[in-house]
Amino acid sequence: MERRLQLQPRLQLLADMVPEGCRLADVGTDHGYLPVYLLQRRRIRGAVAADIGAEPLAHARRTAEAYGVEGIDFRLCDGLRDIAPDEVDTVVIAGMGGETIITILEGAAWTKDGAHTLLLQPMTKAADLRYWLAVNGYNFTEERLVWDKNYLYPVLRVTGGGTPQALTERQALTGVALDNDPLYREYLTQQADKLRRTAEGLRRSAKPDAQQRADAAEALAREIEEKRDTL
Ligand SMILES: C[S@@+](CC[C@H](N)C(=O)[O-])C[C@H]1O[C@@H](n2cnc3c(N)ncnc32)[C@H](O)[C@@H]1O
Repeated sequence: MERRLQLQPRLQLLADMVPEGCRLADVGTDHGYLPVYLLQRRRIRGAVAADIGAEPLAHARRTAEAYGVEGIDFRLCDGLRDIAPDEVDTVVIAGMGGETIITILEGAAWTKDGAHTLLLQPMTKAADLRYWLAVNGYNFTEERLVWDKNYLYPVLRVTGGGTPQALTERQALTGVALDNDPLYREYLTQQADKLRRTAEGLRRSAKPDAQQRADAAEALAREIEEKRDTL
């Protein structure tokens, strides 16, 4: 009998958000679980599984073999550098820091064309990523949250071709399209708690602008808590 690949919650949410029947690029595929899962269930038409490292790519090949999945285009490449825009309509970049995701998108201006769906799952610096996306005219069509191994992760679905806009600090930190997510309150609490810890650290600092920055962090924490308390 065919072995069915099961996913952990973070990758499962990403898989659920991938449009049915799409041609997928999974950038930084590593183990290759996402394209293997989707192809095994015939949820997508094809996949480029890309990674900058030969060893992760070999791991992805082993996963495909183990689950009897054929037809994945394994590609050793940095970001989207060797992936042509007309090869895929959906791009997943998951499990990397927000800065790395930004660098990959900076190197692939075609992702702004409005014809591609991007699913982005930053492990860190989600606020920087949201800010960069908005300033570069990507539209946030959906954001969702998922708990996995004691961490709360955001997943962003964006398309390019919108009007560039600057997000407020609160929007960048707490999301633009998360209001209806069942985990939104928890996410707001986490962000406010982080700001309060930052403020506490700054209060102990002798740096000239530390007290002002602590005031700003506390004000933002209050703003986020007030928003949370209206939900
Ligand atoms: C932590 S793994 C994430 C794997 C999978 N995407 C996930 O979410 O579970 C990060 C992978 O991204 C790859 N990676 C890092 N920078 C990359 C880049 N610029 N281009 C392609 N792959 C990259 C690494 O080699 C590694 O395999």
